[in-house]
Amino acid sequence: MITYKQITRDDPLYPGECRLRERVLLEPIGYDIQKFIEAYPGFEERFEHFVATTSTPGGDRVIGCVLLLRETDRPGFGKLMQMAVDPQRQGEGIGKRIVIEVESKAFGEMGLEGLYCHAQTSAVSFYEQLGWQPEGEEFEEAAIPHQKMVITRPPVASEQVPVSDW
Ligand SMILES: CC(C)(COP(=O)(O)OP(=O)(O)OC[C@H]1O[C@@H](n2cnc3c(N)ncnc32)[C@H](O)[C@@H]1OP(=O)(O)O)[C@@H](O)C(=O)NCCC(=O)NCCS
Repeated sequence: MITYKQITRDDPLYPGECRLRERVLLEPIGYDIQKFIEAYPGFEERFEHFVATTSTPGGDRVIGCVLLLRETDRPGFGKLMQMAVDPQRQGEGIGKRIVIEVESKAFGEMGLEGLYCHAQTSAVSFYEQLGWQPEGEEFEEAAIPHQKMVITRPPVASEQVPVSDW
């Protein structure tokens, strides 16, 4: 069974989250967590940490994660970062479910108007399938082509334009 939850840096699952980020995202660009923390001072403690876990005989294991930066220089918009799923578990719907969990929190209790991320261009269609849209031109980050992807909060029923106004 896969469990989706938000954790803090005190959680025993946090080292597993860091290890997954290293394996999937950081090591391929020559980083580890320490180097990432030094490159983005003050960020690690500001992130909201979301993980997907599975239980194993040795305890719960992190198989997916993403970080949410709640306050960005774009008012009302949070930023998703470090989205990663264990290579052995990719393609099972875990990444999709993690993003849906974050959207639900972000647009619900956090009251954000939108979310954006810098997606590796190879992952653009992953976000598009979730209703995110590209914004602007492709650009390079860490020598990898990226595309900004954005989603805005879906209107709640009371905000929808009544049919009679069309
Ligand atoms: C990209 C990533 C997070 C997707 O997570 P995942 O659990 O493998 O994706 P899911 O199984 O939830 O896929 C959801 C949908 O997106 C599609 N999809 C998944 N990964 C994709 C990719 N890299 N490119 C295009 N489409 C992708 C799937 O086909 C699936 O479509 P379906 O619902 O029609 O079957 C994961 O593959 C990963 O960690 N990749 C390496 C690191 C990375 O690229 N991170 C993102 C940086 S922005």
